[in-house]
Amino acid sequence: MNELILGAGGMLARGLAALRPRARALGIAELDVTDAAALARVIVPGVSVVWNAAADTRVDLCESDPGHLAVNDVAVGEVARLCRDAGALLVHVSTDYVFDGRPGRPWREDDPVDPVNAYGRGKLGGERRALASGAEVLVVRTSWVFAPGGVNFVDTILGLAESGREELKVVDDQRGRPTYAPDLARALVKLVGSGARGLVHFANAGETTWYGLAKEALARAGFAGVRVLPCASDEFPRPAARPANSVLDTSRYEEMTGEAPRHHLEALDEHLRVRAETGRA
Ligand SMILES: NC(=O)c1ccc[n+]([C@@H]2O[C@H](COP(=O)([O-])OP(=O)(O)OC[C@H]3O[C@@H](n4cnc5c(N)ncnc54)[C@H](OP(=O)(O)O)[C@@H]3O)[C@@H](O)[C@H]2O)c1
Repeated sequence: MNELILGAGGMLARGLAALRPRARALGIAELDVTDAAALARVIVPGVSVVWNAAADTRVDLCESDPGHLAVNDVAVGEVARLCRDAGALLVHVSTDYVFDGRPGRPWREDDPVDPVNAYGRGKLGGERRALASGAEVLVVRTSWVFAPGGVNFVDTILGLAESGREELKVVDDQRGRPTYAPDLARALVKLVGSGARGLVHFANAGETTWYGLAKEALARAGFAGVRVLPCASDEFPRPAARPANSVLDTSRYEEMTGEAPRHHLEALDEHLRVRAETGRA
């Protein structure tokens, strides 16, 4: 086994490193994916799988700073080209934010894409470069990722409660499927094991809104006294627009692996347990 994990230190990468302990996990300090020469030194013949978990996930910052394109778009093309030349499988991760958020049924892999923010456009560029590269490629779109020790919505909400906030307003007009990064890592490994290629959606089961997720996280973490008030996105203006409906349809994942993702509330309980045990927030 000669595998590389790029973006080590991120939420997904840590989940992958736990499942692939013999893989070489490279964080930005060891390997900046925007450095083509550095990439060419590590993605060489003999490497069997490259797990690309490196990304600039600062959605609001992406709106004003085009720096994210180097990581989320251009670098993915370079990684894919090197994987093709080395004969390695590229496992790349993309986002629900490639969709425009029109209401309707959950999004399938072949539904039309039309991102509403710069982050989504950059990630779409990356997935297209990967899929067009001629390398063996698996691209998995996911959504609303959380895990202990990462920058994520669940921990932001819990952090506010821990710092004494008694009332929170949270948007209730964006729907999605929260995803626990260790479950995503297991899903990627499962897909690779079943020979999956191309584009696949994975998210934990059960759709909700940010308001719904905040209420569940606070109640389950013992902050039932914190009042959570639903609000509309326009009451909470942010630099980047978000799709109103980015619920992913995971039927293809279920067909390919023969298993259904567990519910996000079960994963949320695990997250809270790990967070409490390790003190990682
Ligand atoms: N987080 C979400 O809610 C979400 C939702 C949908 C899809 N996704 C996708 O899921 C994948 C995994 O993301 P995640 O949730 O694990 O995000 P994450 O915790 O932000 O991890 C991303 C990692 O990439 C690293 N990175 C940034 N620029 C890099 C560079 N130039 N070279 C090497 N590493 C670099 C980051 O390092 P620093 O922290 O030091 O910058 C960070 O450790 C990404 O493709 C992301 O787009 C995430």
